[in-house]
Amino acid sequence: MLFLTQHITDEKISEILNASDIIEIISDAVVLKKAGREYIGLCPFHAEKNPSFTVNREKQLFYCHGCHEGGNIFGFLMKHNGISFPDAAKMLAGRYGINIPDKLMTAAQKKKFNERENLVAVNRDANVFFQNSLIKSNNGTKALTYLNKRGISQESINDFRLGYAPAGWDNLLTYFLKNKKSLSFVEKTGLLVSKKDNKGFYDRFRDRIIFPIIDVNSQIIGFGGRVMDNSKPKYLNSPETVLYNKSRSLYGLNISKNECRRSGIVYIVEGYFDLVALYQHGIKNVVATLGTAITESHVRLLKGFIGKKGRIVLVYDSDEAGLKAAQRSVKFFDKEYADARILTLPDGYDPDSYIFKFGKESFLQASSRALAVIPFLIESAEKKYGLSTEGKIEIISKISKILAPVSDNVVRSMYTKELAERTGINETAILERIREIRKKDSIHNNRQFELSGHIGETGNSNNWHKRKFRIERHIISMMLQFPDILSEISKQNVLEYFEDRSLKSVGKMLLQRMGREGKNISEMLTIVDDKTQKSIITSLMTRKEPSDINARNRLISNFVAFRKDNRNNFVLKNVKTAEENNDDELLLQSLIEGNRRLKVLKETQIKFKKKLS
Ligand code: UTP
Ligand code: MN
Repeated sequence: MLFLTQHITDEKISEILNASDIIEIISDAVVLKKAGREYIGLCPFHAEKNPSFTVNREKQLFYCHGCHEGGNIFGFLMKHNGISFPDAAKMLAGRYGINIPDKLMTAAQKKKFNERENLVAVNRDANVFFQNSLIKSNNGTKALTYLNKRGISQESINDFRLGYAPAGWDNLLTYFLKNKKSLSFVEKTGLLVSKKDNKGFYDRFRDRIIFPIIDVNSQIIGFGGRVMDNSKPKYLNSPETVLYNKSRSLYGLNISKNECRRSGIVYIVEGYFDLVALYQHGIKNVVATLGTAITESHVRLLKGFIGKKGRIVLVYDSDEAGLKAAQRSVKFFDKEYADARILTLPDGYDPDSYIFKFGKESFLQASSRALAVIPFLIESAEKKYGLSTEGKIEIISKISKILAPVSDNVVRSMYTKELAERTGINETAILERIREIRKKDSIHNNRQFELSGHIGETGNSNNWHKRKFRIERHIISMMLQFPDILSEISKQNVLEYFEDRSLKSVGKMLLQRMGREGKNISEMLTIVDDKTQKSIITSLMTRKEPSDINARNRLISNFVAFRKDNRNNFVLKNVKTAEENNDDELLLQSLIEGNRRLKVLKETQIKFKKKLS
């Protein structure tokens, strides 16, 4: 096991975790229902009538409140399918199109992987055909002229491997026939469409400019084709196939990923030409969603490149489009660390026409003024409803609904303040409104908290769980769920006051791997080998903790103060108890301990004096 896992690097593991979606994978095995922030269902690991199996999409974790099985997507597959870690990794890699060295694969896995590879090869061949058609076919010049007219350089044509699908129903089909390819296999890529009554096939893309859609591993997974006149549809795209999943793919990421990583910023545009135009003007950290709304998978994928603290700038061609996207995406960006901004361009411009007209500097300047999602929504509401009394009421009502679910108290109260200032409405009144909405929405969550707290105390068979160090468990659980406290934990040396050794060792590891290396819980579960440590993480990762940073800090400070005090009083107390109970053994031990401490104290004082002199 250890030997095999060595081939799968930490980076590969992160790549797989970033690409995969735990809800999607577990849904193959368990019927899940959405309940508040989580999904719940009947646990596949023990017999039960009432669902206590929960899956959390944000954290990409599952946990059963009944049998205490829990973990990330790897853990689920390993337990549920009874497979090893490398097998689970390969399964996910195959599903999400991630390369893994094939010496690690079994025959069956190889077969599945080979189908993918053969489909990729068909796409590759087809694209060579399209590229050649742009240069050589009769109408190729028409397509080239169109691209030139739109300002697309020869370099961009090469970089993005643009091509042309000739007019006619069977050009590509004939090409594949000549190459002795099975047409029904080619159909699986979406390049051919099967005729009604199964009487053969015809080319999907005809007389169109071709944009190959290429994934992060440089494999062509689909195509988009644009007409050169005003006919409809303007764009035709590959259907969803084994290779192509719209909600997960981002056009251009293959070419922009390094610049995204380097700059920690990514621009998201809507269209093919928008992307090529920005790239050609030197804005190389850009991806396109191809007209569809941005999804959680997109954000997760991007965060793998820009990092958790990276910035995502959504670029839209009108206030209206920006508004829709902002409303939809506010929930993805809230708890995650990605800093999202909305950039709307002046009326009538999309990124493509804007950058050709005004240039790179102007675009960068505009983007530096892009607002974060919530301020953008406040400003939009202001524009829409105006600042009359009725307008203000409407604004407060709309924005309160958006602010209520924001989990970070600091962020929420900051924006509440801003809202109060901009509308001139008393902050307390707005807070009250938000509090009401939160109260209504949290009934469900609280019930879950009681449930997990209760069973957590009594039901788990792990030894460490029975021990009395409740507050230490709280602290570890907070470290897991709110990595923003890690620096405080380290500053106050909190772990030095821990008495439970296992918890202390987990804490130390979290400081290192989540703090310094920036790993998340899901990644932790995969890289931790030690059984006890793993079970501690699993049991604590979904415990309900105060979401208010002040409450968390208070708990930490109190803990430290209490333990510090206790250390000094501990010996005295023991001496007293021993005397009262005539416990000679304890008395002796306490005195020895007392003397030891006294000695340490004296030595420290001497050292200190030496330093001063
Ligand atoms: P737009 O209609 O904004 O077009 O669609 P565009 O990108 O500005 O295209 P040009 O500049 O006129 O060539 C945005 C994106 O939505 C998808 C395409 O990915 C397009 O780039 N779309 C649009 C389709 O898939 N089908 C369509 O019919 C239209
Ligand atoms: Mn356009």
